[in-house]
Amino acid sequence: MTRPVPANVFAPTPENTRQLRDAFGQFATGVTIVTARTADGPVAITANSFSSVSLEPPMVLWCPDKASKRYGAFADAKHYAIHVLGAGQSDLCWHVAGDGFALRDIGLDHNLEGVPVLPDCLARFECEQANIYDGGDHAIILGRVLRASLSGKGDPLTFYEGKVSQVTPI
Ligand SMILES: Cc1cc2nc3c(=O)[nH]c(=O)nc-3n(C[C@H](O)[C@H](O)[C@H](O)COP(=O)(O)O)c2cc1C
Repeated sequence: MTRPVPANVFAPTPENTRQLRDAFGQFATGVTIVTARTADGPVAITANSFSSVSLEPPMVLWCPDKASKRYGAFADAKHYAIHVLGAGQSDLCWHVAGDGFALRDIGLDHNLEGVPVLPDCLARFECEQANIYDGGDHAIILGRVLRASLSGKGDPLTFYEGKVSQVTPI
């Protein structure tokens, strides 16, 4: 006997990616900006695919879309920095989402490896690429954290159902 499939259950197919995207969007995340150095200046991308992975050795990951114009720059970058955004940084989040070279004229500092770094963020992870894995239409970039910093400056920016917001304590 076959059981009826509940109406809200679906097998992901190329025809219903909107539904899968909506289901993924139920997972509330923080928001980061990843930066790297290129011959054309600092490249940046807004990313919510960041995850901490390991304490010993210290490792983190994020997932760039292979279809992104910025993909090659990040796949090739031996070093990069991941910045965790605070609640007041939604303009920066959208600005960088819309323009990979949005930070070109800001006059950013650079870390020891020459990676452009943002001065203000809740936390920063300065990474060396450890590995890059295939993840379907995205790649999974695993990085070893060479240096981390923590501002202790308050509430995070969050991303949920395609919208940025801030955490409301319960
Ligand atoms: C909150 C937020 C999170 C995002 N997370 C990711 C991500 O994890 N990986 C990714 O490749 N793009 C992500 N994007 C999209 C990129 O920031 C950017 O908009 C996209 O790469 C633009 O396309 P282009 O690189 O071809 O210009 C995110 C965008 C927003 C607003």
